[in-house]
Amino acid sequence: LFDLNESGDAKIDEFSESITVGGWIRSIRDSKTFGFISISDGTCFKTLQIVYDDTLPNFKDISKLNVGAAIIVSGRLVLTPGAKQPFEIQADEVMVEGNSTSDYPLQKKRHSFEYLRTIPHLRARTNTFQATFRVRSLIAYAIHKFFQERGFVYVHTPIITGSDCEGAGEMFQVTTLNVDELLKGNNKSAEDVEKELSYEDDFFEKKTSLTVSGQLDGETYAQAFKKIYTFGPTFRAENSNTTRHAAEFWMIEPEISYADLEDDMELAEDMIKYIIEYVLDNAKDEMEFFNSFVDKGLLERLNHVKDSDFGRVTYTEAIDILKEHNDEFTYKVSWGCDLQTEHERYLTETVFKKPIFVTDYPKDIKAFYMKLNDDEKTVAAMDCLVPGIGEIIGGSQREDDYDKLIKRMKELGLDENEYKFYLDLRKYGSTRHAGFGLGFERCVMYLTGMSNIRDVIPYPRTVGSLV
Ligand code: 4AD
Ligand code: MG
Repeated sequence: LFDLNESGDAKIDEFSESITVGGWIRSIRDSKTFGFISISDGTCFKTLQIVYDDTLPNFKDISKLNVGAAIIVSGRLVLTPGAKQPFEIQADEVMVEGNSTSDYPLQKKRHSFEYLRTIPHLRARTNTFQATFRVRSLIAYAIHKFFQERGFVYVHTPIITGSDCEGAGEMFQVTTLNVDELLKGNNKSAEDVEKELSYEDDFFEKKTSLTVSGQLDGETYAQAFKKIYTFGPTFRAENSNTTRHAAEFWMIEPEISYADLEDDMELAEDMIKYIIEYVLDNAKDEMEFFNSFVDKGLLERLNHVKDSDFGRVTYTEAIDILKEHNDEFTYKVSWGCDLQTEHERYLTETVFKKPIFVTDYPKDIKAFYMKLNDDEKTVAAMDCLVPGIGEIIGGSQREDDYDKLIKRMKELGLDENEYKFYLDLRKYGSTRHAGFGLGFERCVMYLTGMSNIRDVIPYPRTVGSLV
């Protein structure tokens, strides 16, 4: 509404005209002749205190309102020097938009995140989730701003797809074939019916799935626009019940032509720093809240990251470092193994103590499309690891040589016909190109200090759970 000046000596007269605010009651307490209501109107992080008294004709009705009720208050804004809040509204009128019942689940007390996960339709009305979802929105905006300012074209890649980009077999199938329907009215077993089902009878007349990544389609547009990015939902039927895995999550996937792995890492580092800067500048109240109540030291850490270089280490060097500490790990490392979260976190939290890029992974633990290095054992891949989380970005330079790509696809048993469009790119004006995927929820976790992916996406879908 206004900026209080530092010494707090703004004149009350300046604010004496009446203002009107609609919001939801966070708490209400009354005595015989007056009462206080704290409301959240959703437009900023802070709550607003309303003072009302028995000069209002509906004083008794107001006092009976429940927490959660929606009201509209008109009154004068008055400064309250020395009080917890800098100003309050002295109500001339309190109208009830919609009362709430007394069983409203968000009474004024601390609720555990576990409990709040059971009421995802209401949890955005609490401080923590107000802060989280406003910051989530700001990060999304910052990401678009970052890429648009640099001339990237935003591409909407399909959600329903016929190819498995990552080749990990973690796709949710999309089908209109209905086993229940076929079972009706005959005594065949589900297995028999399944044998009779044919993809030719299915909606797309072929096997289709929800996308795990928009990269392959993104690459085709990067070979037309030079610099593109995607920003959309992706789906993985990964059987990982962890605090960092969701079955439905959002991913940002830039793709740049005439570019190599070095350009890719530079872009990723610039993007992360840009997001941090934007959020620190535009969500001060929320970030201070996270720093005080969720993750002490968050602001200091982010400020430091913003102003220093990310670390760099090759996979082979990383394995050498980790091997020395094998007795500390549940999974022992050796060259060729995939890095587990415990290893990723050890590298970024204990060894480097800042975000790092791990590069040049063995080809056998990475996807088919990554560019083979001269050693023919590793690929031009990079993962960005951050303290507290581990991997937030996975990227690579892409194999742009037709023959090498087809050789790799054959080794992995991929169906060339499904990837004809992708192979075409290597025939018609192939360029060096690279890209990466930023896991949006992991990025939100990193910026807020929230430690469970279920608490940074409005309606989390995780293995065994869809609330
Ligand atoms: O490392 P990933 O699998 O890479 C790709 O999908 C590439 N196609 C990206 C590219 O080069 N265009 O996934 C990228 C990021 C991970 O680093 C992680 O942050 C996030 O996506 N991610 C998940 N986030 C939440 N839940 C899951 N199950 C995730 N799987 C990956
Ligand atoms: Mg990855």
